[in-house]
Amino acid sequence: MKDWRWAFLGLVCFGLVLRIGAVERGRGQPTERISGSAGDVLEDDPVGRLKVFVYELPSKYNKKILQKDPRCLTHMFAAEIFMHRFLLSSPVRTLNPAEADWFYTPVYSTCDLTPNGLPLPFKSPRMMRSAIQLISSNWPYWNRTEGADHFFIVPHDFGACFHYLEEKAIERRILTLLQRATLVQTFGQKNHVCLKDGSITIPPYAPPQKMEAHLIPPHIPRSIFVYFRGLFYDVGNDPEGGYYARGARAAVWENFKDNPLFDISTEHPTTYYEDMQRAIFCLCPLGWAPWSPRLVEAVIFGCIPVIIADDIVLPFADAIPWEDIGVFVDEKDVPNLDSILTSIPPEVILRKQRLLANPSMKQAMLFPQPAQSGDAFHQILNGLARKLPHDNSVYLKAGEKVLNWTAGPVADLKPW
Ligand SMILES: *[C@@H]1O[C@H](CO)[C@@H](O)[C@H](O)[C@H]1NC(C)=O
Ligand SMILES: *[C@@H]1O[C@H](CO)[C@@H](O)[C@H](O)[C@H]1NC(C)=O
Repeated sequence: MKDWRWAFLGLVCFGLVLRIGAVERGRGQPTERISGSAGDVLEDDPVGRLKVFVYELPSKYNKKILQKDPRCLTHMFAAEIFMHRFLLSSPVRTLNPAEADWFYTPVYSTCDLTPNGLPLPFKSPRMMRSAIQLISSNWPYWNRTEGADHFFIVPHDFGACFHYLEEKAIERRILTLLQRATLVQTFGQKNHVCLKDGSITIPPYAPPQKMEAHLIPPHIPRSIFVYFRGLFYDVGNDPEGGYYARGARAAVWENFKDNPLFDISTEHPTTYYEDMQRAIFCLCPLGWAPWSPRLVEAVIFGCIPVIIADDIVLPFADAIPWEDIGVFVDEKDVPNLDSILTSIPPEVILRKQRLLANPSMKQAMLFPQPAQSGDAFHQILNGLARKLPHDNSVYLKAGEKVLNWTAGPVADLKPW
C-alpha cells in the first residue's frame, strides 16, 4: 500500500520536473518589477534620498578586532563589517554631520569568536555602551535625540538582546542605550521583545563569490523534490529535545526520514550548493533563532524556500513579496509537509520559480564586494530613506533625558 503511494508521488514529482525544466529553458525573458507589501520596490535607488554621517571611532571598535580574527569576514554576521566599508565610500555618506539624516556608529560587536568560530555576544553590551559614551561626549548629535536618528548594525542571533539563547535574550531585552535607535538586524519575529518597531530586518551574510563559483547550467532539471541539510536535534544544548527549533526540525526528521521525496540529512555534502539548484523546494526551518542562511541560499539558487518559523519577520519584507516566492508552513503542520507540498499546483510552483529567477531578488540578498545597485546595502539604505523625514518628536527638549544609563545587568556597566 505504502509503496504504491510513493510510486504515485514519484510520478507527480517527475511530471513537475519535466514541466519546470521546460520553463527554465525559456529563461532570459523579461522579468516583472518586484514590489513588496508597502508597494516599495527592490529597484528603488536610495542615492539622493538620504545622507549618512559615519562616526570616526578609534580602531579598537572595528578594524583592530577584525585584524585579530579575520574569520569575522566570512561568518554569517559579517554584514556589520561590509556595511561599514560600503558606507565609507558610498555616495550617501556626508562628511558634514550638520546635514546628516542618519548617524552610523561602526562597532563590530559580533566579531568575538570562539576557537570553533561561534560568535559570543557577551562583550557586545559593554562595547556598545563604550562607543555610545564616546560619540555622545565628542559630538552633539546623540544627545539631541538619544539615538533616535542613529542606526546600528546588530546581526547577532537575537539582535541587540545580546544572547544566543532565546530565554536569556528575552530576559536581557534590547540594550537600554539602543532603545531609541534604529536597529538593522537579522533577527525578526513578530511581537518579540528583541525586535523593536521600525527595525530593519536584513538577510544574514552569505559569501557571494563562493556561491557564484558553484552555479550550475540553468537547464539542469530540478530532480530533487525537497532538500535539506542541517541539524534536526541539538543534543549538546538541548538534551531533552523540544527547545531546539521548537521541535520543528525533529518533526521533519521523524516524519520524513524514509520518504523518497525528501532528500534530508545532517551530512553537509561538497555539492550542497549544486544540490539546491537541483531541488524544487528547500526547507528553511527555524533553528535556535527563526532566521537562517538557507533562506539566502534558496533565493540565490532558485529553490523555493519552505519557511517553517511561525511569526518570522523576513528580510526587507516591505520590498520582497515573500508570500509569492516562498511556501509558509506552520510549525505544527510539519507532519503534513508532504501533502502540503505535493498539493501545490504546478503553475503556482512555476510562478514562484519565475519570481525567484528575477536577478533583483537575488541581488537584494547579497552583500557583494564591490557593492552593486539593488544589493542588500542598497536595500538597507532604502529602508532608512523610507523613514525620513524624522518626526519632530525624536528631538528632545534641552536637558531632557529618556534613556537610563545605569539600567540593565550590572556586568554590562563595567568599562570595556
Ligand atoms: C551629552 O550628555 C551627556 C550626559 O548627560 C554629557 O555628559 C555630555 O557631555 C553631553 N554631550 C555633549 C556633546 O554635550
Ligand atoms: C535607572 O536604572 C537603575 C537600575 O535599574 C535604577 O536604580 C534607577 O533608579 C534608574 N534611574 C531612573 C532615573 O529611572
